[in-house]
Parts: sequence; structure tokens; C-alpha cells
Amino acid sequence: MELPSLNSKIHLILVCCFCTLSCIFAETVASSVLKGNETDLLSLLAFKANVLEDPLRALSSWNESYHFCQWPGIKCGRQHQRVIALDLQSKKLVGSISPHLGNLNFLRELMLQNNSFNYQIPAEIGRLRRLHILMVNNNSIDGLIPPNISRCSSLNIIDISYNKLSGEVPMELGYLAKLKKVIIHDNNHEGSISPFESLDMQRNQLIGSIPTEIGKLQKLQDLNLLNNKLSGNIPYSIGNLSLLNQLVLGINNLEGSIPPSLGECKNLQLLFLAQNNLSGDIPKQVLGLSLISNEVDLSQNQLNGSLPLEVGNMINLGYLDVSGNHLSGEIPITLGSCVSLETLRVASNSFWGHIPSSLSSLKGIQELDHANNELSGGVPEFLENFALLESLNLSFNNFEGPVPTKGIFANASAILVEGNLKLCGGVHGLQLPHCSFKAHGKKRSYSTLKLVLSITSFRREFSSQKIIECLKLILEVGVNCSSNLPEERMAINDVKAELEFIKDSLLGS
Ligand SMILES: *[C@@H]1O[C@H](CO)[C@@H](O)[C@H](O)[C@H]1NC(C)=O
Ligand SMILES: *[C@@H]1O[C@H](CO)[C@@H](O)[C@H](O)[C@H]1NC(C)=O
Ligand SMILES: *[C@@H]1O[C@H](CO)[C@@H](O)[C@H](O)[C@H]1NC(C)=O
Ligand SMILES: *[C@@H]1O[C@H](CO)[C@@H](O)[C@H](O)[C@H]1NC(C)=O
Ligand SMILES: *[C@@H]1O[C@H](CO)[C@@H](O)[C@H](O)[C@H]1NC(C)=O
Ligand SMILES: *[C@@H]1O[C@H](CO)[C@@H](O)[C@H](O)[C@H]1NC(C)=O
Ligand SMILES: *[C@@H]1O[C@H](CO)[C@@H](O)[C@H](O)[C@H]1NC(C)=O
Ligand SMILES: *[C@@H]1O[C@H](CO)[C@@H](O)[C@H](O)[C@H]1NC(C)=O
Ligand SMILES: *[C@@H]1O[C@H](CO)[C@@H](O)[C@H](O)[C@H]1NC(C)=O
Ligand SMILES: *[C@@H]1O[C@H](CO)[C@@H](O)[C@H](O)[C@H]1NC(C)=O
Ligand SMILES: *[C@@H]1O[C@H](CO)[C@@H](O)[C@H](O)[C@H]1NC(C)=O
Repeated sequence: MELPSLNSKIHLILVCCFCTLSCIFAETVASSVLKGNETDLLSLLAFKANVLEDPLRALSSWNESYHFCQWPGIKCGRQHQRVIALDLQSKKLVGSISPHLGNLNFLRELMLQNNSFNYQIPAEIGRLRRLHILMVNNNSIDGLIPPNISRCSSLNIIDISYNKLSGEVPMELGYLAKLKKVIIHDNNHEGSISPFESLDMQRNQLIGSIPTEIGKLQKLQDLNLLNNKLSGNIPYSIGNLSLLNQLVLGINNLEGSIPPSLGECKNLQLLFLAQNNLSGDIPKQVLGLSLISNEVDLSQNQLNGSLPLEVGNMINLGYLDVSGNHLSGEIPITLGSCVSLETLRVASNSFWGHIPSSLSSLKGIQELDHANNELSGGVPEFLENFALLESLNLSFNNFEGPVPTKGIFANASAILVEGNLKLCGGVHGLQLPHCSFKAHGKKRSYSTLKLVLSITSFRREFSSQKIIECLKLILEVGVNCSSNLPEERMAINDVKAELEFIKDSLLGS
């Protein structure tokens, strides 16, 4: 029982010694008698003195037998022998960060991440005018971020994630002209937001709404406010962030509609708004962003209306999830243009109609989730040819007729078809009823006559341009079918697919 307390007394005495020493020297610095390099030495010794546990003996050779520029973890400038970098990451150090670090005038990089430093970031850090990089992530630092940090005018990157910091992020950070990256996630922050190129504050306790002023942060490229408690609307001014690359506002309580102005963010690559309370239509401007290549996730909101035809502009998109909304209407035929898609989730909405045959062009698809809608018609045979498809969920719809048996359909555990009362056939594992002859024969066929009739009766609803385009295509199919050489003749499957495509594009949208 007594040993630990004795130990800590010794520590205390040591700390006091060094404090007194460096205080004396700090005063001497002021009267500029002491050489700069000596100040560095004393600052480092004071830093060491505040480290209470050093199980890896990272600082054990920090003694005056060697010049401090040779101490492990220290890097000095070549000419003037002053400390420019202090790198003690992942050394299992326990203790506090000495305020004397503020005397390392030439320090450019402070890397203390992944230790167990506690207490506060000392305000003296604000004296480090040359500091470029401050990494103190993954420690046990608590209290506030000292506003004095805003005096480190060279700061480029701050990472203070994974600590116990609380209170507001000081607005003063916004004055740091060179600041590019601020990583603050996994703390206990509340309150407001400041301007940078990259703002990563996911999993904090941010409350309140996103300020309209966000539109003034013209340099912003990544905005990540995932998993906070933000409420209110997404401000219209977000459209002024023309360099925005990633917008991650998912898992909050945001409401209102998605601002169409977001369509102005032409550099957007990733849009993650899932798990909010967003309502209204999906603006066609947003789904029309043709360069968006990474991910669009609007799932688990209250969005309604139809999926805009403009979705087909996103030809580079890899991941689209709109599941868990109140979307209705048919699945747009234009979706067939999103040929880079690997994941498509439209589950748990009110989509109706057939799965458009244009989706046969999505050959890179790995996951398709259409579950829990009001979709009808046959299960498309073209899915048999999707070599990369790993998971297909068609459950709880009104699909009818035979389930194909090849490709993904050969694996009963990769497909889900339950809750479709009129399905039959498929591989044995699905345990569906056998298809009666009638069900088999009930293939959809659309004669040219029917098509022409439909065109006539729906003419008013379509531009003559579109009708002419479709007629041209039909004639082309006709010519392609009547070639003299059999090997040049169009295969009957292709004819069928092509005609269905034309039919869908005319009547399906
Ligand atoms: C500081 O620099 C002076 C000369 O510039 C040198 O004599 C002295 O040994 C240095 N001290 C340390 C601790 O490096
Ligand atoms: C200083 O550190 C070196 C390297 O660990 C060690 O060999 C030496 O004995 C130490 N000197 C003193 C005075 O503690
Ligand atoms: C953190 O430090 C531990 C050892 O203390 C090490 O195993 C781990 O890889 C480090 N993590 C990072 C992200 O540096
Ligand atoms: C934090 O550091 C501990 C060791 O000190 C390590 O085990 C853990 O992986 C680190 N966490 C992160 C997020 O770097
Ligand atoms: C913090 O900054 C203020 C000026 O903003 C200054 O007066 C004060 O001395 C600084 N504190 C420290 C500990 O450097
Ligand atoms: C964008 O900024 C301009 C001024 O720079 C302003 O007039 C306009 O209203 C802003 N637009 C949005 C959507 O905030
Ligand atoms: C979502 O918004 C609706 C009104 O549009 C409101 O009635 C409902 O309580 C909100 N839900 C949540 C979880 O905020
Ligand atoms: C969508 O929901 C809004 C209310 O949030 C309602 O006013 C509008 O009529 C709905 N639109 C459709 C197409 O259901
Ligand atoms: C398939 O969809 C149903 C209905 O929405 C759902 O309960 C099930 O978890 C889904 N299965 C998979 C593997 O996605
Ligand atoms: C069948 O599908 C399951 C679930 O996706 C998968 O784990 C398994 O490897 C597949 N089996 C074959 C033979 O492809
Ligand atoms: C008709 O055949 C030509 C040449 O093979 C081809 O380029 C064209 O796409 C075909 N047209 C249709 C509508 O399939």
C-alpha cells in the first residue's frame, strides 16, 4: 500500500525539480542569455519528467551522455541543431504533455498519437509558430481544445480523434489559413463547426443544425458529420461548396428535403445521407451528377415520389442504396445505363411494375436487393448470366411464373424469393410448387401490332422525338433479323430483349 504512494511522491519531486529548473531557464530565455539549443534540451527533459510510465523504455536513453539530437524520437534541423520533430507514437507512454513543449521554437511535427497522455493539451502549444502537424489522437486527453492553438499559424493537420475532449471546437481554428485536415471524431464534442478543406467530426455529440454559413467554406472537400445528433434541414448553401468530394451526413436527425442545389457540387464522389428523417422527392439534379463514382446512399429516410430518370446519368456509380423509403413508381429503365453498379438496393419501398430488361446491361452487379416492394412480372432470365452476382433478394413482391435455374439461381442459399405467391419452379432447395403448363406458357410476348397500338394510344404522352427513335430501332431490329446469311441474323433472344427494351423505354417510364 505504501509503495505506490512513495513512488508517486518521487515522481512529484522529480516533476517539481524539472519544473523549477525549466522555469528558471524559461526566464533566462526571456532575457536571451540562454542559447536556443539549451532551451530545447531543458524542454525535452521537462517533457520526460512529465512521463510517469514508460514501459518500453522509449525515453530511458534521454540523458546528457548524448546530444539530444541523437535521442530516439527526436529529429533536429541539420544546420542549427534544434528540434524539428518529436515522434513518440505508440510507445505506451503514460503522463501529461508538458507545457514546456511550447519552448521548442523550431518544432514542425509533434507525433504523440496512440499513447496514454492525459489531462489537457497545454495552451503553450500556441507558441509553436512553425508547427505543421499535431497528432495526439488515441490518448486520454480531456478538457477543451485550447483556443491558443489558433496561434500555430503553420498548422496543416490536426488529429485529436479518440480522446475525451469536450466542449466546443474553437471557431478560432477557422482562422488558420493553412489548415487542411482536422480530425476530431470520437470525442465528446458538442456545438459548432468551423471551416477547412476536410472536416471529420463523425461520432461526436454535435447537436443543433448545420449552419447556413457552411456554404462559405469554399475550400471544403470532405465533410463528414456521420453519427451525431444534428437536426434541421440540410442548408441550401451546401450547393456553393463546389470542391466538395464527400458529403457524409448519415445517422443524424436531419429532416426536410434534400436541397436540389446539391446538384451544383459537380465534384461529388460520395453522398451518404442514410438514416435521417429526410422527406420529399429525390431531386433530379442530385441523381443527375454524372461524375459521381463512388456511392450514393439515401437509405432509411422518408423520401417519396419516384426514382428520377436522371439516375441513368450516373454511369460511373458503384453503389446505389435507396432502400427503406416511401419511393413509388416503376424502376426507371434508365437505370440500365449505370453500368458500373456493383450494389443496387431498392428494397422496402413501394416500387411497382416489372424489373426493366434494360438492367440486363448491369453485368458487374454483385448484390441486388428488390425485396419488399410491389414488383410484378417474371423473374428476369438475364440474371442467370450475371457472373458476379452473389446475392439476390426478390422476397415479398408479386413476382410470378418460373424461377430460372442457372447462374445464381442454381444456388438456393444465394437467392431469396419468399413472399411471392405466384412463383413456381426453380431449383429444388427453393421448395416452390412445380410450374403448371399454363404458367410456363404464360410468357410475355409483345407483337409489333400491340406495340404500335400502344404507341398510338399513348401518343399524347410522349414526345414525337422519342417515338421516332423507337420506330427507328424497331426497323433496325427488323433489318437485322432478315439478313441473308444465317450467321449475320440476329439471335431470337436478342430480338426479344431488344424489343422489350424498346417497349419498356416507350411505355415503362
Ligand atoms: C549549443 O550550441 C553551442 C554553440 O552554438 C554549443 O557550444 C553547445 O554545446 C550547444 N549545446 C547543446 C546542448 O547542444
Ligand atoms: C545514458 O543512456 C545511455 C543509453 O541508454 C546509457 O548507456 C548511459 O548509461 C546513460 N547515462 C546516464 C548518465 O544515465
Ligand atoms: C498503437 O500502439 C499499439 C502498441 O502500443 C500497437 O500495437 C498498435 O498497432 C498501435 N496502433 C496504431 C494505430 O498505431
Ligand atoms: C489506441 O491505442 C491502443 C494501444 O494503446 C491500441 O490498442 C488501439 O488499437 C488504438 N486505437 C486506435 C483507434 O488507434
Ligand atoms: C494564449 O494566447 C493569449 C493571446 O491570445 C496570450 O496572451 C497567452 O499568453 C497565451 N497563453 C499561453 C499559455 O501561451
Ligand atoms: C453562393 O454564394 C453566392 C455569393 O458568393 C451567393 O450569392 C449565393 O446565394 C450562394 N448560393 C447558395 C446556394 O448559397
Ligand atoms: C420525422 O419527421 C416526421 C415529420 O416529417 C415526424 O412526424 C417524425 O416524428 C420524425 N421522426 C423522427 C425520428 O424524427
Ligand atoms: C411526399 O410527401 C410529402 C410530405 O412529406 C407530400 O406533401 C407529397 O404529396 C408526397 N408526394 C408523393 C408523390 O407522395
Ligand atoms: C431480403 O428481404 C427481406 C424482406 O425485406 C428481409 O427480411 C431479408 O432480411 C432480406 N435478406 C437479405 C439476405 O438481404
Ligand atoms: C451459395 O450462396 C451462398 C450465400 O451467398 C454462398 O456462401 C455459397 O458460397 C454459394 N455456393 C456456391 C456453390 O456458389
Ligand atoms: C443491328 O446490327 C448492327 C450490326 O450488327 C448493330 O450495330 C446494331 O446495333 C443492330 N441494331 C439493333 C437495334 O440491334
